[in-house]
Amino acid sequence: MKAIMVTGGAGFIGSNFIRYVFEKTDFQGKIINVDKLTYAGNPENLSDIAAKFSGSRYFFEQTDICDKEGIANIFKKYDIDTVVHFAAESHVDRSILGPKDFIETNIVGTFNLLENARNYWGDRKDVRFHHISTDEVYGSLGETGYFYETTPYDPRSPYSASKASSDHLVEAYKHTYGLPITKSNCSNNYGPYHFPEKLIPLLILNILAEKPLPVYGDGLNVRDWLYVEDHCSAIYTILTKGKVGETYNIGGENERTNIEIVNTVCEIMAEKHGKEKDFYKKLITFVKDRPGHDRRYAINCDKIKSELGWKQSVNFEQGIRKTVEWYLSNAQWIKNVQSGEYKNWINKNYEKR
Ligand code: NAD
Ligand code: TYD
Repeated sequence: MKAIMVTGGAGFIGSNFIRYVFEKTDFQGKIINVDKLTYAGNPENLSDIAAKFSGSRYFFEQTDICDKEGIANIFKKYDIDTVVHFAAESHVDRSILGPKDFIETNIVGTFNLLENARNYWGDRKDVRFHHISTDEVYGSLGETGYFYETTPYDPRSPYSASKASSDHLVEAYKHTYGLPITKSNCSNNYGPYHFPEKLIPLLILNILAEKPLPVYGDGLNVRDWLYVEDHCSAIYTILTKGKVGETYNIGGENERTNIEIVNTVCEIMAEKHGKEKDFYKKLITFVKDRPGHDRRYAINCDKIKSELGWKQSVNFEQGIRKTVEWYLSNAQWIKNVQSGEYKNWINKNYEKR
């Protein structure tokens, strides 16, 4: 790996991944962050990395992954040998309100990247296209069972259907054109730089503003939560040790109901603010359920653990504290993220409920 194109590197996981590679690995090459900067993309997420490495080992290209010529030019300009593809529309609620951007970016954008990789790399085998996906492609579980790499796809939201489509395209390019790909399907991430429309940062920010904490339905839907840096280390492990053509599930082995998450965040925030344990729980507000709300996600990640030796390094109790502390120490980031387009969107779509 000499020149890695990271798509969506200004978003939540992409920016954590770029920081992880520069700070925690022995990678010596260049990273080219290709991001359109949608509402979820924020170059400020990497201002520390840009200050150290911009122009030498870190490059930013504001480009849409659907732009055929733009992506072709980046492959040539930097002689890209590795793609780590994060760029996506990522929020289920937005996909319900309007699926079009999800189809464009997640499906057409992935197709455009694959086409460019195939054209630029030809038959080369010393290259890699790593595609980042989600456990949501596997559908919804009942009270028992797990998602395995072999579980048939059964996506239920426009978001997960668009991610499933992109996964199938990546597989098709492997089988049809011999493109050296790997894929990973990961459970819910949390941690620093998480955009505040997602559950955990939304809770922290609403508590800070003493606003209602919206819990969809009965609050008993289950997600498996993984600290974002552990997702980054898993991806890097796949890039360096993974077998070409394979898919790896990544998870936290940490299932929680949504109401457990809400209670935990309330308790940590109360402790930080010197309030009694249940002080913020009065803000909990049960609201209308998300349409088609998947009941339970739970992922089996034995394959990456046993074959590649990866494991989680942060347990949930540590990770959630680190996350709350990060938000409490980054007031300016929060202020910037909450201004502009996101503020208008949240006022229009959320606060009416
Ligand atoms: P995010 O919404 O925080 O970031 C997405 C980034 O992609 C943003 O920087 C945005 O500007 C960029 N982007 C969007 N459309 C683009 C386009 N057309 N061209 C170029 N850039 C574009 O998302 P995230 O939570 O960091 O998720 C990253 C990836 O990980 C996604 O593929 C998502 O499906 C996957 N994933 C996320 C989670 C999770 O819990 N967040 C879990 C599993 C998998
Ligand atoms: P989210 O962070 O949107 O991730 P995903 O839908 O991709 O799993 O939501 C996590 C869980 O929290 C999901 O079951 C929906 C629920 N949720 C709420 O109850 N209230 C909220 O305000 C949000 C954003 C999510």
